[in-house]
Amino acid sequence: MASTTPKLISDKNEMRNWSRSMRAQGKLIGFVPTMGFLHMGHLSLVSQARSLCDVVAVSIYVNPGQFAPSEDLSTYPSDFHGDLRKLASLPGGVDVVFHPHNLYDYGNNSGDAVVEEGGAAASCLESLGLGHESWVRVEKLEVGLCGKSRPHFFRGVATVVTKLFNIVEPDVAVFGKKDYQQWRVIQRMVRDLDFSIKVIGAEIARENDGLAMSSRNVRLSPEEREKALSINKSLLKAKSAAEDGQVHCDKLKNLVIQCITDAGGRIDYAEIVDQNNLRPVEQIKGPVVFCIAAWFGKVRLIDNMEINLSMDD
Ligand code: PAJ
Repeated sequence: MASTTPKLISDKNEMRNWSRSMRAQGKLIGFVPTMGFLHMGHLSLVSQARSLCDVVAVSIYVNPGQFAPSEDLSTYPSDFHGDLRKLASLPGGVDVVFHPHNLYDYGNNSGDAVVEEGGAAASCLESLGLGHESWVRVEKLEVGLCGKSRPHFFRGVATVVTKLFNIVEPDVAVFGKKDYQQWRVIQRMVRDLDFSIKVIGAEIARENDGLAMSSRNVRLSPEEREKALSINKSLLKAKSAAEDGQVHCDKLKNLVIQCITDAGGRIDYAEIVDQNNLRPVEQIKGPVVFCIAAWFGKVRLIDNMEINLSMDD
């Protein structure tokens, strides 16, 4: 069903009705959740959904449940009309853009902001006082890597994705491996909670110079952007060192930390972890992924590289 101008839906019941009518017609429904300000990385996910499904829905929703009160919810970049143009220009377009106003407004707000002991709200959602109190947690996968500095982040992601899955009811959902931990958290959640949805992990889309595409890249100054290239460069070096026989993770991590620090970045974490359970490994013995989060000025970037060594010899 290739239409160039997507149908815009903001009401969740209308969204669900659309999906149900498509399913009744025997159509396979693909879904790509996003927070908008779309770039080629997002669009590559949409193309993948399009190639696998009969109809495609994309959601654009900046989710307060995954932002800490101290984070950048209010300044998260947006360009809704630009997003629509980009989606419409894709081969086959997309069928629906789901753009809810507030996924947590149930019409009976308690009015009370929920705060934890110590007086701090866990996410921007609690501070809105909408009375939402149900959360989905993927207990082990959510704690390491980005979960260390953003302890409520994956709870917010798993919860909003659950809501979106329940509203859109897709057959296939595509997530980017750029957010490797997020992809694994969603996969695990779908398995553990028996969602009838196939979760696809799409490869990282990069700029020509190797920088992983991200909505946050526009916040980098030209100098910071140049420095940020050290992330991909050092990951590539580490990967080829591993392929040349360096399987000691401390050595590989030092190489990357040194390279990024020398370029002027500040490391949040540099970890080599098992691709499935995301636990740190000391020595590469199977499929691992090298995950990085680093600050350049006020911008925190994440990137990663899978390392799949042949273990035969
Ligand atoms: P957002 O950051 O907008 O990303 C939407 C999807 O695009 C995610 O699956 C992300 O991994 C993917 N993506 C971003 N940059 C990419 C790149 N360079 N290459 C490939 N894929 C890329 O991730 C979120 O939104 C939110 O957490 C969301 C899942 C929508 C829940 O609110």
